[in-house]
Amino acid sequence: MSHYFISGASSGIGKALAIALASKGHIVSIVARRIEHLKELQKEQENIHIFPADVSNRLEIKKIVKACLKNVGSIDCAILNAGKYLPLGGDELNSEEFNAHMSVNYMGVVHILASLIPEFKNLQKGHIVIMGSTAGYRGLPRSAAYGPTKAALSNLAEALYLDLTPMGIKVQIISPGFVETEATAINDFKMPQIISAEKAAAKIIKGLKSNQFEICFPKGFVYIMKFLKILPNSLYFKIIKWVTKK
Ligand SMILES: NC(=O)c1ccc[n+]([C@@H]2O[C@H](COP(=O)([O-])OP(=O)(O)OC[C@H]3O[C@@H](n4cnc5c(N)ncnc54)[C@H](OP(=O)(O)O)[C@@H]3O)[C@@H](O)[C@H]2O)c1
Repeated sequence: MSHYFISGASSGIGKALAIALASKGHIVSIVARRIEHLKELQKEQENIHIFPADVSNRLEIKKIVKACLKNVGSIDCAILNAGKYLPLGGDELNSEEFNAHMSVNYMGVVHILASLIPEFKNLQKGHIVIMGSTAGYRGLPRSAAYGPTKAALSNLAEALYLDLTPMGIKVQIISPGFVETEATAINDFKMPQIISAEKAAAKIIKGLKSNQFEICFPKGFVYIMKFLKILPNSLYFKIIKWVTKK
């Protein structure tokens, strides 16, 4: 049995992951701000340990990672999943919202890594899994605040892969398409090939066991997004404008 550390586990994909892993008998430490949601999960599964914290707060994160290592034990796999999503267009540019997206989605990952990597380096083992998104592949309409945070995480995961795998630390990135969660409930458009959080969690758990750097799903949607990723700009913009009727 392993010890999983999951950020952003009070709802959506993180919650589904925590339940699925804990019900397989693993020890699961979960982080999020909504303490009542975390307590409810702990009531359901006694092998769930809760660490209420805001991932954008460096000192809070340092404290809870230290407490988790001391009280629960060394972490085998950290799934850095906490995220914020607000659809905002380039014409709605607002420094505060853009900064909040970076602070949670990007720096929230960095703060946890800053506490965990020295531990993994000492042990010469560990598993880091970063929650990216297919929305980070290229610029998309109304994704000006969110998309760049996921593009930054993709670059970070690649850099960590190169630096840390020689030290025995496994690094993976998750790139989901649309998943039915609180985050996507605010979208006012039809989300192609949307899947449930439980199905996403099952695909992630399967991917964690593989040696693939990127865990991406659902396949059909991801193939289209990967094809769009390699198109020349002029063609990419034409297709996206046509699809989104912009
Ligand atoms: N749903 C999709 O279609 C989709 C697609 C691609 C990638 N993703 C990514 O998947 C991850 C999970 O999102 P979701 O779709 O499952 O949405 P969700 O249900 O809204 O879950 C987001 C989680 O992040 C936590 N969180 C947000 N801000 C936080 C903060 N400052 N500190 C600590 N925890 C924080 C939330 O907990 P609290 O509010 O309790 O703090 C919640 O547990 C995100 O990184 C998202 O970008 C989702």
